[in-house]
This record gives sequence, C-alpha cells and structure tokens, in this order.
Amino acid sequence: MRILFVTSEAFPLIKTGGLADVSGSLPAALQEIHADVRILIPGYPAVLDKLINPKFLATISNLPHVGAINLIQGEMPETKVPVMAIESVGLYQRDGGPYVDATGKDWEDNPYRFGTLSLVAAILSSDQSPLKDWAPDITHCNDWQSGLTPAFMHFMSADRTKMKQAKSVLSIHNLAFQGCYGADWVKRLGLPAESYQINGVEYYGQLSFLKAGIFYADGLSTVSPTYAKEIQTEAYGFGMQGLLTARGKEIHGILNGLDTHEWNPSTDPYLAQHYNADNVSGKQVIKTALQTKLGLKEEPKVPLLGVVSRLTHQKGLDMLLACAESLLTQHGCQLAVLGSGDTSFEQGYRDLAKHFPDQVSVTIGYNEALSHQIMAGCDIFIMPSRFEPCGLNQMYGLRYGTPPVVTYTGGLADSVKDTNEASLKNKSATGFVMKKADPNELVSAVGKALSYYQDEKTWKEIQENGMRQNLDWTKSAKAYIAMYEEILNK
Ligand code: ADP
Ligand code: GLC
Repeated sequence: MRILFVTSEAFPLIKTGGLADVSGSLPAALQEIHADVRILIPGYPAVLDKLINPKFLATISNLPHVGAINLIQGEMPETKVPVMAIESVGLYQRDGGPYVDATGKDWEDNPYRFGTLSLVAAILSSDQSPLKDWAPDITHCNDWQSGLTPAFMHFMSADRTKMKQAKSVLSIHNLAFQGCYGADWVKRLGLPAESYQINGVEYYGQLSFLKAGIFYADGLSTVSPTYAKEIQTEAYGFGMQGLLTARGKEIHGILNGLDTHEWNPSTDPYLAQHYNADNVSGKQVIKTALQTKLGLKEEPKVPLLGVVSRLTHQKGLDMLLACAESLLTQHGCQLAVLGSGDTSFEQGYRDLAKHFPDQVSVTIGYNEALSHQIMAGCDIFIMPSRFEPCGLNQMYGLRYGTPPVVTYTGGLADSVKDTNEASLKNKSATGFVMKKADPNELVSAVGKALSYYQDEKTWKEIQENGMRQNLDWTKSAKAYIAMYEEILNK
C-alpha cells in the first residue's frame, strides 16, 4: 500500500506540538509493517537543512499565486522515511515558525502557504502528478493545514471521471484550529465557485480548510476513541458537531502511540542517568540535577510537580495558576514549568516564580532537552486539559515513571487509569484522573497524588504500572492500515 502522508510539521525536522511527534513516528511505524510511505511537507528552512540526502525531484507549475514549486526528495534523519519537501522561496523561505512570525502573529499568507501544500498533495494523488514511478493509494491529510486536499481531489476527479485517483483520509488532531478565511480565498486558491456552499467548503460565511477536509475526505479519523465520540457533541464539536455526527459512524478513533526510541528513560541522551521499570533509582539523581539546574532547593524528598505544555486555555493551566499558591503553601511541594503560549499565562507563571523562588521554576520557550529532563526528574506530571484530542505528554510521563494528573477527556481518558483500591489491586493504576476540568478537582487530584507519593511502596507500583504499559505505535499503525483498507474497499 502506498501512502502520501501530508503534514505541516514533523519531528525532528520541525515541531510546534504533538502533530510533529505523530508525523515523525506514525509514518515510520507504517513503514515497519511494510507500507510504502512518503511524507509531504512545506520546505521551511529547518526542513531543507535537516533532510538527509536532499535531491531535486520534480517541478510543479501553474499553481495559483506561487506559479511553480520544486519538490525536493530526501529522508527523515534516523527512520529514513522518504520525505518530499515543497521548495518555494516566496512561501516558505523565511525566519519564524511554520504558522506565525517572530512576534507570534499568524503569517498573512497562511492560506497560500497551506493551500499550496494541499493542492500539491492533490496533484501528486492524481494523474497530473509529475512523478512517473510513484502514486499513492491513500493520501493521508492531517488537520486544517492539509484540509483542502480532499476538496481539490474531489474536483479533480469530477473533471476526469475515469482517472484512477487515490482515496483521501483526514485525521483530526485538534478541532479548535479550523483554518477559516474570507470567502475571496476560494477563488484565489483555485477552488471552483460551486465548492463554496454548506455542502462544501463554506463554514459560517467563511472558507474553512478543516470543514473542507471533513466534508470531502473519503475517510475520517481522530487521535483517540474518546475524542472521536466527544467531537460529535456540542461541548467539544467547535461548531462542526452536526457534520461530524452525520459522518459519525465513519470516524475512526485511533490512539496515538509514542516514539519509544526518542522517549526511553534507559537510553535518553538528554539524561545524565538512565533508569527503567525494574530500577527507578536513577530518577532521584536526575531530580537533584534538575533542582540544581532550575535554581530550586535541592530537596530529595520534596515532591516536584512538572508541566511541559503550550500555555493555553485548552491545557487548563490557568486552573493550575489559580490554585498554585495554596498547593505550594499547603503541601510545600515544588513546581517546574516549561512552556509558551498566551502572554497572560506566561506572565502569571513568571509572577508565581517570583513569589516562590525556592519552590517554583518557570522557563518560557521551547526546549527539547529540558522537556525530557522535566519528564524524568519530576515526581508528578500535571496536565489538566479542558479537552485533549490525544495528548502525548501524559504518555511520556507514564513511560518516565512520572504519574500524570489528568482530566477525564479525549486521549487522557484513554491512556491514564485513576489510582484507587481496585486499580492498585489489578495493577492498572497509572495516574490521577479528575472527572472534569475544575480547579477544585485539580486541588483534590494533586492532593491525592501527593498523599500516595508519601507511601513509597505503593508509589513505586503506580510508577511501574505506567512504565510497563505498552504505548508504542505497533497496534495503532495496524489500525491505520485496517482503516485504509476499509476505505479502499468501499
Ligand atoms: P499539543 O500538540 O496539543 O501541544 P501534545 O501533548 O500532543 O499536545 O504534544 C505536545 C508536544 O510538544 C510534546 O512532545 C511536548 O513534549 C512538546 N512540547 C510542548 N511544549 C514544549 C516546550 N515548551 N518545550 C519543548 N517541548 C514542548
Ligand atoms: C494536537 C492535540 C493533541 C494531540 C496531538 C497529536 O496537537 O492537541 O492532543 O496529541 O495533536 O495528535
């Protein structure tokens, strides 16, 4: 089976969040089970720099606005998954992030940047592809950035009914980001005028890249079974629940796995000491080193709470901020935060660190090494998300013997098991689950975690249960293949 995996970020080439982790590891896991996968990604400077063996592959011309682009073929570092990067000086050769400039403002030409990604994917999936020796059976799109691909594919095949064309799949990683732009973009991006209707790309008076994907894709998936159900409700549907319910039976909820090579406490190159489920003692050495590095008091027995996250409303970190003072004074615990996001959240955490210099460390920014060290050196990982399509950090916490405190939602509900008498007895207890995202629930869940932490033997059991949980991609990669087959056989 040949799969074109279309994405706007992929670790280790470029990463802003979990989509990059998935795009780095799912194609590799599919390749392991003998699928013929190629990644398609914009050629941002970091991507072109880090690609292994980059070579010119083909030119695609006559694209709206940009004219021509070059496809550069190379490989992912380590996994060697083939990558096609879209080289365009006008669209992608600039400093800043994939979606925003250095000041955090969305690039004004994002519709062109990701409209081109979507259109190139559609062309590579059609008989207009310049590639003579490779064409996908499945074109797997991810989130709004490649959401127009199924729409372009639909209108291309309507033009040329007899042409063999790939089937499209859209994976929803986060329904909150919908890629909405003014109606004038329909024409500018080369979509036919008739696509702009409720049964098409129109969404509340705008063009929505995500809605287009949800409407036109041959198959739909999202990144956990619970989120697949949640998005069909008003509370989590972000306005798309009607359309999602109409296609409800077709939505596959497939839990993300984790890259067990990248996230492995017994080999992690960012850690000064290694450990595993049989012997977690190395964690203590990392904790002390982390406390020193972050300027916290070196207290081996004081519980250290960790956060690595986008600092946004989704992640519920305003709730932690609201109750932090009482947690810190009541329990005397410490807190290490790494993240960036909303300025008010960033400021709130900076202020907290100022008030509790021995107990709280806040690092604003993106830091791969520190994220691994926090994951390993902390005792408890805090992730009180209001919604969480899957979430990877809680899984990193499980794997690193850092039991997570999470909300019962999305992938958090599907990956973390609350600690109680029964779950301890059958060895399934792996963390602490709040019934809903609520500050009082957070205080009591953290309180519960801290009281279990005092009981060394039981704590070790909880750590071990999580560390032994199988979280790799094998099972999920097989579920993706089964979904592709179902769509191809439809
Ligand atoms: P989301 O994609 O919604 O942000 P996930 O839990 O799926 O949430 O994935 C977040 C990913 O980004 C994880 O790999 C996490 O370690 C990483 N991450 C988030 N913030 C930072 C940061 N400030 N520094 C380093 N890594 C970060
Ligand atoms: C999104 C979601 C996150 C998920 C990630 C990868 O960023 O917010 O929950 O883990 O995509 O699928």
